[in-house]
Amino acid sequence: MSGVAQRGPQKTFYLETFGCQMNVHDSEKVVGTLVQQGYRQVETVEQADLILYNTCSIRDKAEQKVFHRLADYKKLQAQGKRFGVLGCVAQQEGEKIFERAPHVSLVCGSASYRRLPEMLVQLKNAQLENVGAPSKPRSLRLGWEAMSLAPNLTVIDPHPAKTAQGRAASVGETRDSRLGTQDSQLVRITGLDDRQTDECFETEFTARNNPHRGYITIIEGCDKFCAYCVVPFTRGKERSRTSASVLAEARQMADLGYTEIQLLGQNVNSYKDPAGKPASRKSFAELLAAVGEVTGIRRVRFTTSHPRDFGRDIVAAIDAVPALCDHVHLPVQSGSDRVLGAMQRLYTREQYLERIAWMRAGRREIAITTDVIVGFPGETEAEFAETLTLLEEVRFDAIFSFKYSPRPNTPALSLEDAIPDDEKARRLDVLMARQKEIQIAHNKNYLGSTSEVIVEAYNPGRNQWVGRSSQNKIVNFMAPGGAGPKVGAYAQVVVTACFPNSLAGELVV
Ligand code: 5AD
Ligand code: SF4
Repeated sequence: MSGVAQRGPQKTFYLETFGCQMNVHDSEKVVGTLVQQGYRQVETVEQADLILYNTCSIRDKAEQKVFHRLADYKKLQAQGKRFGVLGCVAQQEGEKIFERAPHVSLVCGSASYRRLPEMLVQLKNAQLENVGAPSKPRSLRLGWEAMSLAPNLTVIDPHPAKTAQGRAASVGETRDSRLGTQDSQLVRITGLDDRQTDECFETEFTARNNPHRGYITIIEGCDKFCAYCVVPFTRGKERSRTSASVLAEARQMADLGYTEIQLLGQNVNSYKDPAGKPASRKSFAELLAAVGEVTGIRRVRFTTSHPRDFGRDIVAAIDAVPALCDHVHLPVQSGSDRVLGAMQRLYTREQYLERIAWMRAGRREIAITTDVIVGFPGETEAEFAETLTLLEEVRFDAIFSFKYSPRPNTPALSLEDAIPDDEKARRLDVLMARQKEIQIAHNKNYLGSTSEVIVEAYNPGRNQWVGRSSQNKIVNFMAPGGAGPKVGAYAQVVVTACFPNSLAGELVV
């Protein structure tokens, strides 16, 4: 590839991604950055020189996954493979990761991705230096702070001025530390910005892995500090990209043949255009409409929305611009005002329902999905029942429901009256069963209707195509008596059967 830095034999990497769409898209940027640095992506851990995990810490279960993976492949370190932890767990745990998984060489938090190229160069240089060096890996028992006092440790600080200004050396720096020749295999590089970073992870080297649908980040970080949520600590403060740069990326994608764009952010509704004359700065709804008007773009989605910042102008934009999909994901979390208050969600049940009413009053039929947490500390049976009545009132198209999971640093950690896990599990079952009934009843409304779908896959075993409607519903369909459409094409499908989580139908020719 032209412009790719090549030094020595080509290094390979394996990357596994956990968590949300933001992480999936960050991984696309990480892949692009690595390829630009001369690495080649491989499909198995065994083939890779560098093994990376892009991690999620939204719930404890997600966080534990990465430590299991690291333990599973620990023995491969003896073959000279390097391990890196990226993303939210990296940001949250920082250099503690080296204590828990001493074979890790690289820790790069989600607020520090823009440092990745320089970190990769450091890693590569360290590896090149190690070629031919005696291979004596030693498991490190010291924590970072103790390590930095070790006399045989080299610390390369590319930002000496900042350190001289007295900032904590372990925060906001990229550091490369290695033990002397005896332990030359042990390389440790960290990038851990604090939440005050103003930088976004922008790169021209994004390696999108779907040629039809692509993500564009419009805002990073979150300033909402919901009481249960670790995101403001892992992804830093809210910072928006300029609308000019978002639109330039959208046009570029359209030129490359993409027809669907998904605008991403932890809270897209609090988008604030940071540049240009005040009059020309775009609100979120204006940006949404402008992306929807880019020639060649047939579908625009956005996620995630926060009810507090969700305005009527978004519904007006969906009504006015046909390319904007008729689907809104609006996490409610609870139907109880007391619990919403304790969660610091900044809206009441009534205000949430008001936003639902705005959508229902729109010209198009907007599908509405949500997130719900059960078993928040102190949630009573009656408060949980209020969440169930909210489901009845709204009749969501789909919900994502979770048992509350205590997270480090979050205000909810100090709340009393934890709900026992089996009670959380019971509430989750009740919630999901109720929602399933709602979806079965709701999906019957689609029988006999025709939807336009984008074709996402073909299943040869069933001779069936997988499509997705503008409302974000999966529609599996057959193409009787003819060749079916290509993946990435748009097709008209008449719905002939419905299930709780999908529809089925036939291609209209
Ligand atoms: N425990 C359980 N679920 C959580 N979520 C966020 N933090 C937690 C937590 N600590 C859920 C919320 C959010 C979704 C992405 O994850 O419902 O909307
Ligand atoms: Fe977390 Fe709340 Fe921010 Fe969403 S809005 S990322 S739930 S703190």
